[in-house]
Amino acid sequence: MRSDVALRRLDQVSLTELLHTAIQDADPPEVMPPVEGPDGWTADRQAAFLRFHRSRSLAADPVEITFTIVAAGKVVGAARLFPLERAGSAEAGVWIGRSHRGIGVGGAVLELLLAEAREEGFTSLYVSTDPQNAAVRALMARRGVSLVRDADALTAYIDLTAEAR
Ligand SMILES: CC(C)(COP(=O)(O)OP(=O)(O)OC[C@H]1O[C@@H](n2cnc3c(N)ncnc32)[C@H](O)[C@@H]1OP(=O)(O)O)[C@@H](O)C(=O)NCCC(=O)NCCS
Repeated sequence: MRSDVALRRLDQVSLTELLHTAIQDADPPEVMPPVEGPDGWTADRQAAFLRFHRSRSLAADPVEITFTIVAAGKVVGAARLFPLERAGSAEAGVWIGRSHRGIGVGGAVLELLLAEAREEGFTSLYVSTDPQNAAVRALMARRGVSLVRDADALTAYIDLTAEAR
């Protein structure tokens, strides 16, 4: 596993850096909910990206925990833990900038996010992905996690109570 990858709690300063990474290295649909208007990083979409994280993670009463993903000292993406109604479960959300994909960052992030989720007291981590997402399928297979079809998605609950691997 890569040892130069870390998760750092999002704050106002790193949010600016995260937006910069998203603009340079990702498409809006990969990193934020849909916003109407022309494609690309329009001013509206950039403002919505900042609002999204400020309202969800940096508010006085946050609804989820967001981390920046730092690889070799640079912010390259984001990882989120969103508590679900199912007791003890949190949903994982991860995106990594295009130029840092496929070189082991995601594998390291998964292990770090599992550790953070355990630390926060969650007992399972919910993963939901598009069936076309070969990288997530490979990450789950490597951990021995079976994804099951749920409507249009492939999903799994990863047990966090088992001994850390
Ligand atoms: C999905 C994502 C987080 C994976 O992170 P990553 O850094 O690219 O993944 P890694 O380099 O650690 O590779 C993980 C595994 O996927 C495989 N993989 C990576 N990219 C792949 C690709 N395009 N096609 C097939 N396999 C791929 C790797 O070979 C590795 O497999 P292994 O463990 O058997 O060696 C990242 O690609 C991403 O941010 N994608 C866009 C947003 C997204 O899809 N988020 C997840 C939504 S659920």
